[in-house]
Amino acid sequence: MNNLVVFFALFLLVSVSHAIELDFCVGDTTLPRGPQGFACKDSANVTTDDFVYTGFRGERTTSTNVYRFNVTLAFVNQFPALNGLGISMARLDLGVGGVIPVHSHRTSEVIIVTRGSILAGFIDARNNAYYRRLEVGDVMIFPKSMLHFQVNVGSIPAIAIVSLNGANPAVQFTMNSLFAGNLPANMAEQITLLSNEEVTRMRGLFDNA
Ligand SMILES: *[C@@H]1O[C@H](CO)[C@@H](O)[C@H](O)[C@H]1NC(C)=O
Ligand SMILES: *[C@@H]1O[C@H](CO)[C@@H](O)[C@H](O)[C@H]1NC(C)=O
Repeated sequence: MNNLVVFFALFLLVSVSHAIELDFCVGDTTLPRGPQGFACKDSANVTTDDFVYTGFRGERTTSTNVYRFNVTLAFVNQFPALNGLGISMARLDLGVGGVIPVHSHRTSEVIIVTRGSILAGFIDARNNAYYRRLEVGDVMIFPKSMLHFQVNVGSIPAIAIVSLNGANPAVQFTMNSLFAGNLPANMAEQITLLSNEEVTRMRGLFDNA
């Protein structure tokens, strides 16, 4: 019995100390990725530049996609210093009337509006919708894996910054999953109960004829 406790304590110690063995592990994105992230870039080659991401600078156009959004990711692929740190960011630009359509991530997300007015919300597993018009400076949390969305409800382009508690949270847009990928149209019809015409129209929005 005592041996078991000691063994368990040692096991815990080993797993915990493993997690804090390194100050950081800037990902080497040229190497294969495992379930915990990328292997580390040689620390002798790490510089301040690795820890700075400048990709959020400048203006964005929002007219080139059907949703009128422009999403700039600072996930581990774009910003390899996030590797293993369980955190990431994104910049959301929404044209007038633009939307970030219903989607989910493996992680929770906090949003702060920095320009304009955004109606933001999520829907829980009991189909309760929680939504609010957010103004500049307002913050909202979307719990892990819940379907959520953002809509520009103001008269100017809107901007928000989000942070997610994962280095590679993934973004799964429900409508794209159903209508922009390789799911056959007849299966999309069956599993959504939408009509053939509606499915054809949705696939057409994504040039998925
Ligand atoms: C580190 O940088 C040096 C000089 O650029 C290069 O020769 C070396 O291959 C790098 N090491 C790794 C592991 O990438
Ligand atoms: C986002 O904005 C940039 C800068 O204007 C532009 O080059 C890019 O095509 C835009 N992407 C989308 C999806 O509109």
